[in-house]
This record gives sequence, C-alpha cells and structure tokens, in this order.
Amino acid sequence: MKHMISPSLLASNFMRLQDEVEMINNSEADWFHVDVMDGRFVPNITFGPPVVSSLKKFAQKPLDVHLMIVEPEKYFEDFKNAGADILTIHYEACNHLNRNIQVIHKLGMKAGIALNPHTPVSLLEEMITETDMILIMSVNPGFGGQSFIPGSLSKIERLRNMIEKAGTETLIEVDGGVDITNARALFDAGVNVLVAGSAVFKAPNPTQMISSLRNA
Ligand code: DX5
Ligand code: ZN
Repeated sequence: MKHMISPSLLASNFMRLQDEVEMINNSEADWFHVDVMDGRFVPNITFGPPVVSSLKKFAQKPLDVHLMIVEPEKYFEDFKNAGADILTIHYEACNHLNRNIQVIHKLGMKAGIALNPHTPVSLLEEMITETDMILIMSVNPGFGGQSFIPGSLSKIERLRNMIEKAGTETLIEVDGGVDITNARALFDAGVNVLVAGSAVFKAPNPTQMISSLRNA
C-alpha cells in the first residue's frame, strides 16, 4: 500500500509562505494539506479561496483542502475555481452528505469525508463506495499542535475493515498529532495519507522529517 504525506500549511511560517511551498515541492511530500476554518464549525479562523488560489500558482502537487466550515456546499465552486484538487467536508457539517459528495465530483474534484473524534466510522457505511477518501480526525479540529487521541488507532482499524469488505479503493487519511512516534503504527493500522503540521514545520529539517514520516 502506498504511503503518502500531506504537510499541513497551518503550521508553516505565513510570512515566508512561498519558501514553505517550495520546500514541499522539493520534498517527498505527496500533497499540500490546506486547513480552512470559519470560526463557527471550529473555534478558529484561517483562510479561504484567495489564499488557496495563491498557493495554486506555486504548488506543484495536489491541494488537499480540508473544510472545517458550516454549510460547506456554499463554497464548493469557489474552492474548485481556486484550484482545490481534493475537497474534504465534515460529516458533522452536512445535512445532505450524499448530495454534497455528488456535487464535488460533478465539479471535477476528488471528495473526502472527515469525521470528528466523537463520530463513529459505522455512520459511513452507506458512503464508503461514494467517496474517494475518509479523513479521521485524531484531535478535535481547530488547532495545530494538539496531542494525538489514542482511540483513533482502533477507529482506523475498524474503518480499514469496512473498506476491505466494501472492496473499494477509498483512501484513509489521518489528521492531528501525527509525528514520528506514531507514524508507523498509523500506516500499520491501514492509513494511506498522514497529515502532519507541527511535526514537519517545527522540525529542524522539515524536508528530512517528511522523508522520515513517509518511510516510517
Ligand atoms: C486541525 C487541522 C490539522 C492541523 C494538524 O484542526 O485539521 O490539519 O494542522 O496539526 P498538527 O499536525 O500540528 O496536529
Ligand atoms: Zn486538517
């Protein structure tokens, strides 16, 4: 199984964003993880489509956009136009998840569904075959630098079993508190894509850390 790394720009130095993008371009990273927060779904505000569209000008790898916003469907087109390649929306933020995933696909993007720590994977039984990726939040969304919630590991194992049973290629991504101490266990549990913010950008050598995580 392919192991991928999606560094989260939330932990990067915004005053030197272009250098950070170049660093990721020249590293073994697979995607750019872009955290969009609205101050309503989560208690923090980050950035929106204009920043995504600036990133798109320099990023040479897919933009993995994680929407932590209420009523995400209002902004699908804006994020498509800004250059999002993968658009992930929260289960907890959608009344009509199936319809939303269909719209994201119709706009030509890959679609992901994120689950907060309190949401069981069993609730996705009807959606596994409809979505390209499931994002397991291993912290409560809103901030970088939090500690990994240990129960996330068995949750990932249960999700891996559900995906095997469904016989689909659905990817599993994990986000929050990921670092070199748990990367190997996460891959072993069935994760395809590790999101890492602080672990990458606070490391003395971020490029080297991306490589270490990917080959954990
Ligand atoms: C948290 C965000 C994460 C965050 C992870 O709500 O979704 O992507 O950047 O940061 P670390 O890796 O520092 O936990
Ligand atoms: Zn994220």
